Amino acid sequence: MEQELLIPNHIGIIMDGNGRWAQERGLIRTMGHKHAVGILKELCIHMADVGVNYCSLYAFSTENFKREITEVDFLMNLFISSFNKEFDFIKKKKVRVLFSGRREPLPNKVLEAMDQLVEETKNNTELTLNICLNYGSHAEMVDTTKKICEMYKNGVISLDDITEELIQKNLYQDLPPLDFVIRTSGELRLSNFMMYQASYAEFYFPKVYFPDFNNEEFDKAIIEYNKRNRRFGGVK
Ligand code: IPE
Ligand code: IPE
Ligand code: MG
Repeated sequence: MEQELLIPNHIGIIMDGNGRWAQERGLIRTMGHKHAVGILKELCIHMADVGVNYCSLYAFSTENFKREITEVDFLMNLFISSFNKEFDFIKKKKVRVLFSGRREPLPNKVLEAMDQLVEETKNNTELTLNICLNYGSHAEMVDTTKKICEMYKNGVISLDDITEELIQKNLYQDLPPLDFVIRTSGELRLSNFMMYQASYAEFYFPKVYFPDFNNEEFDKAIIEYNKRNRRFGGVK
């Protein structure tokens, strides 16, 4: 990639289209999820190499529990095997992993694999990978509000202490705002992904399904980001 390109500090990726990718090949939907793990691995290594500081990945929404039990179970098992095994590259690349989302009702084995990955990577200093698993912006607003109400009830804060900074600090993770949100598969919506954090993000909707979102597609996205004129409400 050309050197002078500006790399977004925090990228959000809505990894969509796995099911359609598989169906178009005459495969069952879950084969798309399986293939997505390989592409994700390449992508994370590439992001670490080009100097992305933060990446939030939408892996499973609070609404995805509405899917067939067989697909949900397949995904849960894929999370376990990926976090335990496939993600070995993460340690070599000094990637720090965080999770955002509700723990309930994730199976214990998934939670254990998540906790272990967080623990093993906590001192890493390169790319921070925030995996949004059983994540929804609406659930995050509820959970953040509850934390703040609890502090108020216990006399830790007064009404005047409720500021944008306090809300930010009580989100699932206190990360810099999203600069760039990529949603693969051509769908033009957020589907409950980091609505608060994306307030001034640039959006990019490539048509390719996530299992085809290779490093070349990522580089195209960065070129597109560099064409945007971000004003943040001011004049530029
Ligand atoms: C995204 O791909 C992966 C998850 C939501 C877990 P989909 O499974 O939504 O694939 P499509 O959108 O149905 O093709
Ligand atoms: C969003 O994709 C969730 C993830 C990519 C994890 P969906 O496929 O669930 O979103 P909708 O249902 O098309 O809005
Ligand atoms: Mg989808």
